[in-house]
Amino acid sequence: MNHFHYVNGSLHCEDMPLARIADEVGTPAYVYSTATLTRHVRVFDEAMSACAHRICYSVKACSNIAILKLLSNLGCGFDIVSGGELYRLQAAGIPTDSVVFSGVGKTRQEMRAGLDAGIHAFNVESIAELHVLNEVALSGGETAPVSIRVNPDVDAQTHPYISTGLKGNKFGVPWSKAEEAYDLAASLAGLRTVGVDCHIGSQLLHMAPLLDALDLMLDLVARLRARGHTIETLDMGGGLGIPYKDETPPTPADFGEAFARRTAGHGLKLVFEPGRIIVGNAGALLMRVLYDKPSGPKRFAIVDAAMNDSIRPTLYDAYHELRPVIERPGNAPHRPVDVVGPICESGDFLARDRDMPYLAAGDLIALMSAGAYGFSMTSNYNSRRRPPEVLVHGDTYSVIRARESHEDLVRGEQIPDHLQT
Ligand code: LLP
Repeated sequence: MNHFHYVNGSLHCEDMPLARIADEVGTPAYVYSTATLTRHVRVFDEAMSACAHRICYSVKACSNIAILKLLSNLGCGFDIVSGGELYRLQAAGIPTDSVVFSGVGKTRQEMRAGLDAGIHAFNVESIAELHVLNEVALSGGETAPVSIRVNPDVDAQTHPYISTGLKGNKFGVPWSKAEEAYDLAASLAGLRTVGVDCHIGSQLLHMAPLLDALDLMLDLVARLRARGHTIETLDMGGGLGIPYKDETPPTPADFGEAFARRTAGHGLKLVFEPGRIIVGNAGALLMRVLYDKPSGPKRFAIVDAAMNDSIRPTLYDAYHELRPVIERPGNAPHRPVDVVGPICESGDFLARDRDMPYLAAGDLIALMSAGAYGFSMTSNYNSRRRPPEVLVHGDTYSVIRARESHEDLVRGEQIPDHLQT
């Protein structure tokens, strides 16, 4: 459920007409709904209420500091994968004691920053990383809190690029080495084990893979405890899928019930790292049609947003619904159209062969379900300025990130002396 809806034929985010944002802020622009974000956190929290749990929102999904602050105010902790994401939390004035730090390639500097911030746990992904984290912690006379991410070798049944829990993926310690890794961690004076961790993939549309992973993890917890390891938390990662088109993913309540049944009596606090399910359907990318271009058998709507603003269609062949901001009557003529950006690549499309009402230059359209991995995956390709981000709250909005300027594009670049004439 989200708060993008038509009011008298005009697409609104909550009580704010998107056309007004387009007029005042310009296009393209990302627009997020406070009410939807709030609702998604509450629904998730409620669904998991039968188990002791903590939501650690996955910052990479959408990392604007205003969004992070909103989610922190709602009680979320955070899952980070870089020193940059930690910096964002600190820049937003958010407490960092409920942060878990994932990622296969943490640098020593990032580990140091995590220790200084007093984070809840490092989700360690390899034996080599255990040794480095141990050294970094000992050099400061500290012990680092550790969960080891294990790879349960479960097929998440999702796009191969976002499937992470299979043997052949780069993530986690191999299942067969898990106990060895915990024994090693226990022998290193700079580490303190707090839990176990896994994350099998993203945009999961079936319960079975996550529940299979849960059963395996519970079994592992029992074996680790039998070896004398302290396991307080079980971090099951993120991954819950959302409907982009006509998918019917299991609801958080379905998961909550199954998780509660399986984990009852295990004395574990569960950690979840949801990203997409919190922010995906809470955001849209607003854009304007520049040209209507018939070309041989095809018809293109050339818009002012492009693959640099929203890479998911290009990268994963992802489907995002496109809605006209001014609603068309049901009987308006439809025709298939490719909605493409101005970038010099044929891979620059937001939708292909989409049956849409006729689009004319000047029309506003919204790319729906764009809140997750939308702005956070933008780039400056073709020296395009990143779009602004706007947060709607009832009948008001705030620009939470300004459109980049041309000066922003060249910031940090320099012409060396030998090229000065
Ligand atoms: N935890 C870890 C360790 C992760 O790697 C991820 C996502 C999450 C949590 C959050 O997963 P979520 O609940 O959002 O599914 N760019 C891709 C998705 C990449 C996901 C990477 N890891 C996309 O646009 O579909």
